[in-house]
Amino acid sequence: MQTIHRIQQYLDEHRSRFEEDLCALLRFPSVSADPGCREAVHQTAGWLKDHLAGLGLSSELIATEGSPLVYAESPPVPGAPCVLVYGHYDVQPPDPWDQWITPPFEPTVRDGNIHARGATDDKGQMLTHLHGAEAWLKTAGSLPVQLKFLLEGEEEVGSHSLSRYLGRAAERLACDVIVISDTPQFGPNQPAITCGLRGIAYYELRLQGPAHDLHSGSFGGAVANPINAAARMLAAMIDGRGHVQIPGFYQDVRPIPPIEREELAELPFDEARFREQLQVDSLAGEAGYTTLERRWARPSFDVHGIAGGYQGEGGKTVLPARAVAKFSFRLVPDQQPEAITDALQRFLEARCPPGIRMQLELLHGSTGFLLPRENPYLAAACRAIEAGFGRTPLLIREGGSIPIVSEFNRHLGVPCLLLGWGLDDDNMHAPNEKFSLADFHRGIRASACLWYEMSPSFTVRKEI
Ligand code: BES
Ligand code: ZN
Repeated sequence: MQTIHRIQQYLDEHRSRFEEDLCALLRFPSVSADPGCREAVHQTAGWLKDHLAGLGLSSELIATEGSPLVYAESPPVPGAPCVLVYGHYDVQPPDPWDQWITPPFEPTVRDGNIHARGATDDKGQMLTHLHGAEAWLKTAGSLPVQLKFLLEGEEEVGSHSLSRYLGRAAERLACDVIVISDTPQFGPNQPAITCGLRGIAYYELRLQGPAHDLHSGSFGGAVANPINAAARMLAAMIDGRGHVQIPGFYQDVRPIPPIEREELAELPFDEARFREQLQVDSLAGEAGYTTLERRWARPSFDVHGIAGGYQGEGGKTVLPARAVAKFSFRLVPDQQPEAITDALQRFLEARCPPGIRMQLELLHGSTGFLLPRENPYLAAACRAIEAGFGRTPLLIREGGSIPIVSEFNRHLGVPCLLLGWGLDDDNMHAPNEKFSLADFHRGIRASACLWYEMSPSFTVRKEI
């Protein structure tokens, strides 16, 4: 039987076991932001290492100061490219727990979707490539390209350990192209290749007022309140037209090329449906730009949390001693987090009122990414997605960040192909995260086809 038919048959026969593997992986509470989950993070890495070894790949754990890296590779294939597959096995915290219909680490199937933290971001998507490789190894006995799997456990907190490792492992990780599945499709039944991502600069601002909490009746009006100060400082950062007010913030922003603005305008984006999905009666953002431009190709500012003072039941007339705010800017090419930090520090210091001491910390930063459209592997990826999903992918950008993408480009000199199988209503980072099982299996098929499509070997092609 021809190889491609044997592979398809293998994928059909192993559907339920693939889903069991996914459930096993989703049961680990590998929350990288939570020190209490350290053990689970290590167990997840161990599970992946063993799974890759079970496929016949040489596989190992690489210890770091943080979460272990999982690395596995297949032998080089003369005349065929080497592909590095990156994914992340860490997940976001599941909070708020009480809003989950079923518990976040007890994967449950409802309406054809698997629900669990990490289902789409990124355990489910990442696993498609392990299963795609498995089909080759268990039927043909080898892969038509060399694969190097590099799976990390700190993506959701900025990829610090992997970033350090890249500096000393460039030779080992050398490859012709990188493949990542950690992005959404354009919509249901409309796959996409993401040719651009935003970067991020994420901060914590700590404000200290009096040494301890005070009675707001006795002291209010005479002593600076750090939460009042935080509110004023945060509000000063953006105006009513969605423009960031920090001097120099837009200095390095690469404008959206007119041709791309036209392409974005032609995408079948249904704004009314988008509003309905989010249950908001109106959208908001930077004046002069469309919703897709605002989400994908313009910078943005969001406050993620403000803490301090009294949060309990009823009222308490306290003048708090401290306030903490967490916020970030999404960045676009060619903005640099370091330059933003300098400008932000000056901006906030100038607005920090007397009686308040401030500390600003950059928790993580990464630059945006754009894939050159002439990348030689783009056409192969389009064909593979067509084989897996039955539709030609659209070429889009996305607004999220995968910090290591631009680092890969810098250290390894090759760009990333972002082939995502998720959906933008998958509830990434939110309660009830899900992943369509149909897309899981389509992703596996697209992955298996990708290795073949990337191989220039005529004999392999002809036989298939
Ligand atoms: N899978 C996402 C990235 C993503 C999200 C791409 C939405 C496209 C659309 C990734 O795991 C993620 O969430 N990254 C973080 C990185 C941050 C914590 C440094 C993000 O974008 O917030
Ligand atoms: Zn994420």
